[in-house]
Amino acid sequence: MTYPASRPRRLRRTPALRRLVADVRVSPADLVLPVFVKEGLREPAPIASMPGVVQHTRDSLRKAAVEAVEAGIGGLILFGIPAVKDARGSGADDPEGIVQLALQDLSAELGDDTVLMSDLCLDEYTDHGHCGLLERHPGTGEWTVDNDATLARYASAALAQARAGSQVIAPSGMMDGQVAAIRAALDGEGFTHLPVWSYSTKYASAFYGPFRDAAECTPQFGDRAGYQQDGARGIDEGVREALLDIAEGADAVMVKPALAYLDVLRAVADAVDVPVAAYQVSGEYAMVEAAAAHGWIDRQRIVLETLTGIRRAGATTILTYWAVEAAGWLRD
Ligand code: PBG
Repeated sequence: MTYPASRPRRLRRTPALRRLVADVRVSPADLVLPVFVKEGLREPAPIASMPGVVQHTRDSLRKAAVEAVEAGIGGLILFGIPAVKDARGSGADDPEGIVQLALQDLSAELGDDTVLMSDLCLDEYTDHGHCGLLERHPGTGEWTVDNDATLARYASAALAQARAGSQVIAPSGMMDGQVAAIRAALDGEGFTHLPVWSYSTKYASAFYGPFRDAAECTPQFGDRAGYQQDGARGIDEGVREALLDIAEGADAVMVKPALAYLDVLRAVADAVDVPVAAYQVSGEYAMVEAAAAHGWIDRQRIVLETLTGIRRAGATTILTYWAVEAAGWLRD
């Protein structure tokens, strides 16, 4: 059937008709708010490249988390910035480290009212800013990230987070075998119930720029292209990374960033039978905030349009810095 019998505009005539037939919906419960907590802060510190986002003190984080839960969002994911960094990222598995302390705070405050997730990586904790331990290549003499030595650090950090009350371990370092190593460590200590939500499909991206201000983790040399994925590879590699993580025991997977990788997100969502998150990252946030600050775009409509696009591409869950504000708009 074609025009004139077929007229798609008929179902677009009124807001009520459009609402009736809409089938891509984002709800507050789908959204996860990334939060930053920094050791030794007295006041929350604004992040210049992410207006509206702050590095929290333990106290301000507790308040922000309560407000976020009251807004009805699905969960929080915690990033920590230690006062002192070293080559092995000691803060990542220190029981007194900032993330562990903040996890204790939040799990005492919120209990099972929300899902308390913890990002697991070393870059926030290492003085060199890389996501793993460094080794000098015996041939070329260049420093690279030592995959297998890093796995032991991740396993240890996962246990520290688990003991501190994390409810979902989210490894973001893109080491091969990281999910298996973390799963084995958790199971070995009786944390068989704790899910691993892996950043399975994560690209080396300029969209992480503002995050590196937020988490103070800019690599001191080189970049992350030796472990994070190359956007010039096809969709298949993104799907393969997700399937490998699921085979290693990941309970859910993630595609990151979101907007520039919606094709990969769709392919992963079609290929897997576990929940798929998308991370709308710092650079995606910063671009919209900057344009909105100039009055060049309609901020609210743009945010909701991007969230809807990410959902339409297959995400069950969206990590976004707008989680709380968007939850308010979605409720109204
Ligand atoms: C690694 C990590 C990064 C982000 C989340 N986890 C930074 C990176 O890989 O360089 C980026 C998130 C964002 O840009 O919003 N711990």
